[in-house]
Amino acid sequence: MQPALLPSIFSDRHLLGIEGLSAGAITHLLDLSEGYVALNREVQKRKSLLGGRTVVLLFFETSTRTRTSFELAGKRLGADVINIAVASSAIKKGETLIDTAMTLNAMHPDMLIVRHPDAGAARLLADHVKCSVINAGDGSHEHPTQALLDALTIRRRFERIQGLRVAICGDVLHSRVARSNILLLNTMGAHVRIIAPPTLVPAAVERMGVEVFHDMRKGLAGCDVIMMLRLQQERMQGSFVPSTREYFRFFGLDREKLAEARENALILHPGPMNRGVEIDSEVADDITRSAILDQVELGVAVRQGCLDALSRNLGPAPVF
Ligand code: NCD
Repeated sequence: MQPALLPSIFSDRHLLGIEGLSAGAITHLLDLSEGYVALNREVQKRKSLLGGRTVVLLFFETSTRTRTSFELAGKRLGADVINIAVASSAIKKGETLIDTAMTLNAMHPDMLIVRHPDAGAARLLADHVKCSVINAGDGSHEHPTQALLDALTIRRRFERIQGLRVAICGDVLHSRVARSNILLLNTMGAHVRIIAPPTLVPAAVERMGVEVFHDMRKGLAGCDVIMMLRLQQERMQGSFVPSTREYFRFFGLDREKLAEARENALILHPGPMNRGVEIDSEVADDITRSAILDQVELGVAVRQGCLDALSRNLGPAPVF
């Protein structure tokens, strides 16, 4: 497939969330991303689609997979990629997010990839800059490219998303990954279950069209995909679980609980993993069941697909 030749039905200037995206737009982004998987396995990975363009990475929270994969994606598409190290920038001196946006805007970037601890930060930036903005995670709100890479991993394994039973397990309350995945999977016709202790389930989550379980064994019964989430201690004020040991006993994925799911059930985790807290090493490292490293690989392709789609909605590159 030649990704650059697909017509663009994704007409948005920004990618701030999965909310509001149609099944057609999601499928388009996945198809575009799929085209980059084989390219990334070649020795020569470089394309010139974003030649002359500047991509700025602005990460206010730590990140390994997401930041590296956006950087690789931008470089493999031929863009100049700038990493702003927030810890050593004027942001640490008290500059507001809007001042940062105005400063960056004056340097004419074409795309801004932002991660921020506050929900809504990506939208705020998008309202103040002229370039495209991609949300790489805003607080507990959304992380659209993670949901897209999870969807691509599922689609490559099952050749469909529709009709699959997907369990999202663990700290759903603090998880932007869970939120974006619920929105995407529902739009694509999957059946979504949440499995978590009552303290880690968002209020009225059933209204998002999911079934809620507090018992891992019951919830996993008949599932095709098991998505484990990290216990996000950094977002917790107070104690949400009695102890991590107890949490693992009831909600950690191990061989015994896994046996309740379908025989070929796929295990996903966005990373970073807390081994022995939400997932046992034995199942995390079982390459016949776990697609955790496939997710990392496909994450680069999905970020290429998203940069590609948005670049079609930018004006022509400025000529000096
Ligand atoms: C997730 C995130 O940052 O929201 N990680 C990621 O993007 N790979 C999930 C997490 O931090 O647990």
